[in-house]
Amino acid sequence: MVEDRAETQNSSLKLPKDFKFGTATAPFQVEGNVSGERKTDWDLFLERHPGIVKPGEVGPNWWTPGEAEADFRRMKELGMHTQRLGFEWGRIEPEKGKIAGEAIQRYRRMIDYLKQLGIEPMVTLNHFSLPAWVAGEGGWAGKESRRAFIRYAGLIANEFGDVPYWITINEPDVIVKLGYFMGSWPPEKKDSKAALVARHNLIEAHNEAYDLLKKANPKSQVGSSHNVMWFKPNKPDSPINRSYVDLWNYIFSTNWISATRGHTDFTGVNFFTGYHLNFNPRKLAITIREDAKGTVQDLYFGETVKPDADTSDMGWPIVPDFFLDALHYLHKEFGKPIIITENGVADQEDAHRSLYILTHLVALWKAIQEGVDVRAYTHWSTIDNLEWVDGYNQRFGLIGLDPKTGERTIRRSAALYGEIATSGEIDVDGLADRYLTGEQRKKAQQIIEKILKDPSS
Ligand code: BGC
Repeated sequence: MVEDRAETQNSSLKLPKDFKFGTATAPFQVEGNVSGERKTDWDLFLERHPGIVKPGEVGPNWWTPGEAEADFRRMKELGMHTQRLGFEWGRIEPEKGKIAGEAIQRYRRMIDYLKQLGIEPMVTLNHFSLPAWVAGEGGWAGKESRRAFIRYAGLIANEFGDVPYWITINEPDVIVKLGYFMGSWPPEKKDSKAALVARHNLIEAHNEAYDLLKKANPKSQVGSSHNVMWFKPNKPDSPINRSYVDLWNYIFSTNWISATRGHTDFTGVNFFTGYHLNFNPRKLAITIREDAKGTVQDLYFGETVKPDADTSDMGWPIVPDFFLDALHYLHKEFGKPIIITENGVADQEDAHRSLYILTHLVALWKAIQEGVDVRAYTHWSTIDNLEWVDGYNQRFGLIGLDPKTGERTIRRSAALYGEIATSGEIDVDGLADRYLTGEQRKKAQQIIEKILKDPSS
């Protein structure tokens, strides 16, 4: 049945021959703004909140010719097959209707360079940041946003007919939730009516961009990326608890994917973490999840229970078994091929990343083994970058970075990931011996045994 897609030999888990490994970035997070020429809503947001980026911090600075290219070479050396990167709409169209040819040329050079290296580009058209002029017209809640996005998407579709993978919009739910409903991200609105309009525009913008990109190149694979923060029932034997969890997964993740049904070639999954959720009518209060800086990130109606698991520097539980559960659910519900467009961990000391990658990829292997059609995995992130309201303080990179000097250090976990990508298989015992501490090896064994026994299919 599925044994021909993924198979096992001794302790080595083989991934399908055509499976693609890569790493992921977003333009606002890696490009820097050295000469101050970029004008997006996030640049304005950072000006309004000057503590987020410290003086002198420029990050990976990919806008400077040569910087992105050097990191692409590092990824090639690791054995990557694909690279997710984004185009910054605000650089391409800095003023309404005015197209910056030099920005298009810069992206053209990046794409050509990746192709020259034999790395397939996966391009995101919108990863949170909007041109300042679109923000000035009301952002995604404005009347013109959808039409403006479609014009931009049309331009890009014509210029870049050779891009094999497109992601139209990254995490529309996060844009609506944090930007228009909770007000912690641009445009800092707490307005449920605006949130509903923004939701409608984002979905329509995706659906129309899909048609347009497919028309320009029917062979390209087009989708969007969804924030899949996964809930599992705290009491799996309770039907009420299970239905409650389904409802919350629907509200958080799957309703957004449903809304693009018929306009997508794949389900793009950004998976980082998950929680158990309890249905307890007496405790039906709002639970608030905050990030390291105390910024509200999520609200749940119910009681979340932290799984007994290690946590990342962001405080997010590391739960590869939730990843397996989510993959099965998304496969059953949507039936489309899946691309993991983000999965990774904030871990400055690189203390958990090897274990994180190993166990999440075992979960992914198990899902494929059980018939889930996963085609590619891009690890978040290529390099430490600007983690939105957390500035350069949260480190997700396979490449470590000094945000001031730009000095790079390839983290040890990158070598583990490179071994898997190059061989196309997960040599669990060998990798554990080479990359994990004694204590982690025990932990890995327990986690992997649990994953392999999971009857989730
Ligand atoms: C976003 C990234 C972000 C990552 C870690 C994802 O939801 O797409 O931009 O850096 O999460 O927070």
